[in-house]
Amino acid sequence: MKNQKIKWGIIGLGNIAHQFATDLLLIEEAELLAVASRDILKADEFATKYNAAKAYDSYEALFADQEVDIVYIATPHDSHAELSIKAIESGKHVLCEKPIALSYKDAERMIEASKKHNKFFMEAFWTRFIPAVQEVLAKIESGIIGEANYIKADFAFIGNDVEGSRLFDKNRGGGSLFDIGVYPLFLSYIVFGIPKEIIAKAVYHKNGIDLQASMILQYEKAQSILNSSIVSESDMKALISGTQGRIELNSPWFVADGYSVFNGEQESVYSLPTIGKGYAHEILECNDCILNNQIESKLWSHQNSLDLSKIVEEIKTQIGLNFF
Ligand SMILES: NC(=O)c1ccc[n+]([C@@H]2O[C@H](COP(=O)([O-])OP(=O)(O)OC[C@H]3O[C@@H](n4cnc5c(N)ncnc54)[C@H](OP(=O)(O)O)[C@@H]3O)[C@@H](O)[C@H]2O)c1
Repeated sequence: MKNQKIKWGIIGLGNIAHQFATDLLLIEEAELLAVASRDILKADEFATKYNAAKAYDSYEALFADQEVDIVYIATPHDSHAELSIKAIESGKHVLCEKPIALSYKDAERMIEASKKHNKFFMEAFWTRFIPAVQEVLAKIESGIIGEANYIKADFAFIGNDVEGSRLFDKNRGGGSLFDIGVYPLFLSYIVFGIPKEIIAKAVYHKNGIDLQASMILQYEKAQSILNSSIVSESDMKALISGTQGRIELNSPWFVADGYSVFNGEQESVYSLPTIGKGYAHEILECNDCILNNQIESKLWSHQNSLDLSKIVEEIKTQIGLNFF
C-alpha cells in the first residue's frame, strides 16, 4: 500500500466534518473518497464542496463501500461506540471524534473490535498531534522547567442553549465534561499520567447535564486544576509549571500556534503554526499508521484513550452525570 493515497470516508456532515474535510484536502497522501449523511441532499452538497467522488444517504452504505480505507466518525457522542464498531466490523479503519465514548465499557468494546478485526482505530485527539503541543511535551521531558508539578488549564465558552443544540442535549451526551472537559484532562494525563485522586464538582443544567465542571487531579508530587464550561469563558491559555520555570501554551491552547518558556527573568517565545486548522496532523498520523500496518497510534494509543476514559468516568460518577 506504500505510495498509495489513503481513501477516506466521512460520516455525520455537521460542523466538525466541514473543518476536517478542509484540512483533508491539504494532504497529498489522502483522498476524500466518500461522505455519508442521513440526508442525501446534504451529502451531495458536501461531496461537491470538498470534491468527494461518492455521496451516500446512510452511514451503512459508506461502510459497505469496498474502496474506503478509513472512516472518520463525526457524529454526536452517544453514537461513537456503535458506529465505530460497525465500521470496524465492515472492514474499515476508524478515526472517531472525541470523546471516545460515553462510558468506559463502550470504549473497551471499541478497542476490542479494533484488535479482533485487526483494523486501525484512534480517538480523534487532534491536540496530541499539534506541533506546539508535541514540542512542549518534549521540552518538559528534557527538564527545561525542572520537575513539572502543576497544571492550570481549562476549556470554556458561552454556548447557545437553543432547541436542537447538541451541546446542551442530554440524549446526545451533551454537557461540558464530555464535550470539552476532556481537553484539560488530556493535558494533565499526557504530562502527569493517571492521577492518584480526583476531586470534581459541577454546576448543572435543569436536564441534569453539567454546564460547568471543576476538577482537581492529585498526583504524588503534582496537582492539576482544571475547568470546563459551556456557560462562562476564559482566556484558554494553559500553564504547565515546574521547579525551575513554567511553560504557557498560546490561546487557545488545545490548538496552540506556539508557546513561551519562562525561566526566572528569561522568556523564550516559540512559534509553531499548525497545518490548516490543525486537523491535518492527526490525519497524517492515521495515514502513517495504516501504511505501517499499525492498529493504533504510538502517540495516542488505545491504552491512552482507555486511561482518559477511566478518568472521565470517575468524574462522571463524582458529579452524578447519567446519560441513560
Ligand atoms: N476535534 C474538534 O475540534 C471538535 C470540534 C467540534 C466537535 N467535535 C466532536 O465532533 C462530534 C460532532 O460534533 P459537531 O459539533 O460537528 O456536531 P454537529 O454539528 O451537530 O454534527 C454532528 C452530525 O452528526 C450527524 N448525526 C448523527 N446522529 C445525529 C443525531 N442524533 N443528532 C444530530 N446529529 C446527528 C449529523 O450528520 P448528518 O445529518 O449528515 O447525518 C450531524 O450533522 C462530537 O463528538 C464533538 O465532540 C470535535
